[in-house]
Amino acid sequence: MAPAASNALAGLLNRPLSIGGRPVANRLWLAPMAGLGHISYRRVLDEYGGCGLAFTEMCGARALPTENPRKSPVFRWREEELPRLVCQIAGATPEDLVPAAERVEREGFFGVDINMGCTVPGIVKRDAGAALLKRPDAALAAVQAVREAVSIPLFVKFRTGWTPDIRPAEDLARRFEAAGVDCLVFHPRVAPDRRTRPPVREHIKAIAGAVSIPVFGNGDVITPEDCLDMLEQTGCDGVSVGRMAVARPWLFAEWTQGFTPPDTCFRDYALRLADALDRDFDPILALKRYKLFTVYFAANFSFGHSLQSKFLAAKSMDDIRAVAEAHVKPGMPLVKRPNMNLHNT
Ligand SMILES: Cc1cc2nc3c(=O)[nH]c(=O)nc-3n(C[C@H](O)[C@H](O)[C@H](O)COP(=O)(O)O)c2cc1C
Repeated sequence: MAPAASNALAGLLNRPLSIGGRPVANRLWLAPMAGLGHISYRRVLDEYGGCGLAFTEMCGARALPTENPRKSPVFRWREEELPRLVCQIAGATPEDLVPAAERVEREGFFGVDINMGCTVPGIVKRDAGAALLKRPDAALAAVQAVREAVSIPLFVKFRTGWTPDIRPAEDLARRFEAAGVDCLVFHPRVAPDRRTRPPVREHIKAIAGAVSIPVFGNGDVITPEDCLDMLEQTGCDGVSVGRMAVARPWLFAEWTQGFTPPDTCFRDYALRLADALDRDFDPILALKRYKLFTVYFAANFSFGHSLQSKFLAAKSMDDIRAVAEAHVKPGMPLVKRPNMNLHNT
């Protein structure tokens, strides 16, 4: 990216912002991602810095009140990240969501985020995630109940809905604002489309124009140019990045602070994440999570498929380290836009 555009991007991302009266360091955030945005990934992410707010992967609301953070693979964090960490909860009713949100507040998270975007069948079948968008009154009732129960910043992550008509989402955004939601994160895709068609930028613009609370745009931000375009074309208040943050976690520091990653960044990252997973999880879960990550990591490279199959053949975390040491080398040919087919597996 040309220096003028880099400066323009950093300038937009570093504009002061507070959510629900609480200041946030910048406007480039980590999107919630099941299986990817765990404590170990965030441990590594924090070494690079530059992420204004991170969102946990979704936590089932019903289980949350009794979840043990020492045992739970998802409801786990480091004390020092709590001031910049939002816990995402998935549930369908005030009965499920309120006790979960209260636990999130008690534990000291920055905020709580209600998932209204997930289209995974297991979630939708239980009327949670994007299913709530089919029942706007139920979605609103859930939001109102959580708002009454907690005073920490309240977020809703949602998407266009179940038809391409953006008006129901605009209407819901206004009702969320009136109910006291502090910030919306919007992914402009129609359910159940799971990232196969491009997101519709105009829909972010419509939501940002419908409310006066901050609206963060999300979806297919791969390059710094994409990020700048999203901000400039939609007027959204900031950007939430998902898969690319897993592929290149230093992008937060790069886009907000001008950080230049060293030649060894990919290999360092591959090894650091292996160490972090080993530290936080038992060997079986660590290996499982590492393999999930390799889909996004390998998509960085022109010959990503062959690297990925080497990682997938690993039988232990030591095998993983051996693959990283032998096969992730400085100067490997990179793709500018990672292979999104890989990302959709
Ligand atoms: C593996 C994976 C898991 C995801 N899990 C969640 C989740 O738990 N909660 C949620 O709201 N969105 C989830 N998402 C959606 C992302 O937050 C984001 O909206 C989507 O990936 C588009 O953004 P991106 O193009 O920057 O990746 C997930 C996406 C992926 C790829």
